[in-house]
Amino acid sequence: MKIAIGNDHVAVGLKNIIKEHLEERGYEVVDFGTNSTERFDYPISGYKVGCAVAAGECDLGVLICGTGVGISLAANAVEGVRAVVCSEPYSAKLSREHNNTNIVAFGARVVGSELAKMIVDEWLDAKFEGGRHQRRIDMIAEIKETQHLEAAEA
Ligand code: RB5
Repeated sequence: MKIAIGNDHVAVGLKNIIKEHLEERGYEVVDFGTNSTERFDYPISGYKVGCAVAAGECDLGVLICGTGVGISLAANAVEGVRAVVCSEPYSAKLSREHNNTNIVAFGARVVGSELAKMIVDEWLDAKFEGGRHQRRIDMIAEIKETQHLEAAEA
């Protein structure tokens, strides 16, 4: 399985720790950077990782900035992306089981490296449950694509 990873200048150190952790777990990691601590705009890596996942070039994605917020918003602007920002493993796991998230994000200023590894592990090990959850995901996709939700008219 191929995992896209991306970050801004705040998160280079944590990105490399998580990248190594993923490789130790046997995943192929595609690094969309940055690898510099020079100021770097997080929408660039959020967009690149979002595109790689939405296009199926990578199976899943991991994004890290200061809080995980900006970079996940950038990824979520790409059609087909469901990125979640998590500071603890429970939401990460449920975000996959119920929301079928395809990108997980967190903040290098928020979580330490051991907690970040737990978030990533719970997220990767969880499986989407489908059923009623798929219907709700389809509703979100409808909003994104059409800026309208038929079910809200009832
Ligand atoms: C960079 O200073 C910071 O804004 C960024 O890392 C992130 O936290 C944005 O959401």
